[in-house]
Amino acid sequence: MNSPRLLQLHRDSDGAAEAAAGLLLPRAAVPPKFFYDAQGSALFDAITELAEYYPTRTEAGIFAEHGAAIADAVLARTGAAPVIVDLGADNCAKGAALFARLSPQRYVAVDISAEHLAASLAKLQREHPALDLVGVGLDFAARLELPAGLAGPRPLVFYAGSSIGNFDPSAALELLRQARTLAGDGALLIGVDLVKETEVLEAAYDDALGVTAAFNLNLLRHLNTLLGADFDLHQWRHVAHFDRAASRVEMHLEASQTCLVRWRGGQRAFAAGERIHTENSYKWTPRGFTALLREAGFAEPRHWTDARGWFALFVTDA
Ligand code: AVJ
Repeated sequence: MNSPRLLQLHRDSDGAAEAAAGLLLPRAAVPPKFFYDAQGSALFDAITELAEYYPTRTEAGIFAEHGAAIADAVLARTGAAPVIVDLGADNCAKGAALFARLSPQRYVAVDISAEHLAASLAKLQREHPALDLVGVGLDFAARLELPAGLAGPRPLVFYAGSSIGNFDPSAALELLRQARTLAGDGALLIGVDLVKETEVLEAAYDDALGVTAAFNLNLLRHLNTLLGADFDLHQWRHVAHFDRAASRVEMHLEASQTCLVRWRGGQRAFAAGERIHTENSYKWTPRGFTALLREAGFAEPRHWTDARGWFALFVTDA
């Protein structure tokens, strides 16, 4: 039996400085990657089970219905037994779901937390003893580049769940250009959430059980640990709204009273009603995302959607 290789290419200390700098911006903003400590990852898993949060199950439904065609399109580009590079692999469930159709020679799971990957990969290795498994701890939002040889000449680059929605269009273009380089002569398979009614979008990001509110607030708890900050979570509330002009759901944390927050090496006063911007989740049209892929250098994007047209899976050449 093989055992997973783990490569940590990212240091947490970089994160602390980045989060502190965000808190000090005139309009405070902390990037969404700070949601995902162990508690935040568990809360995100709970979000994907919510009735209101349609993206995960809609994407899975597209795979269930069009999996054979999608796999054919991928293999036509990568050839048989591709290397799969899974960006934002999390618990590796979506990547592993591709194994039956693609029979990969190697699975490279990339996530901000290599630590979080270790347990998932160990479990995967027991199920696939002969598969070459690699976990890479990398902040690919900063730069998507893997050690030479890991992806090979014709990999499948897989970016599921519409996490591309966290990037504004110019940053998404830059990331897709880097994905284009990484994909070499292989393919890209990417999940993209689509524009739809405001009510559906806002419910998905402000569910009745308050799980998304807890997920958002947990960012402050994470900052308390990471920065030694003293956020009082009771003083903050979750806000989510769809900005149709910008085509994005925004999430914020709003101070319900005046407060002074201190952390190692800094502090900031927040007025009642002042917000910390924690996430943008861009929604695309099929036409708009096709144009973005073309601009990033992918020549022939194809896509599949669900019956309601809520979500799309794109496959492109590289
Ligand atoms: C993991 C970025 C795809 O934007 O829908 C879920 C994160 N935020 N609920 C999304 C999220 C609030 C999610 N992505």
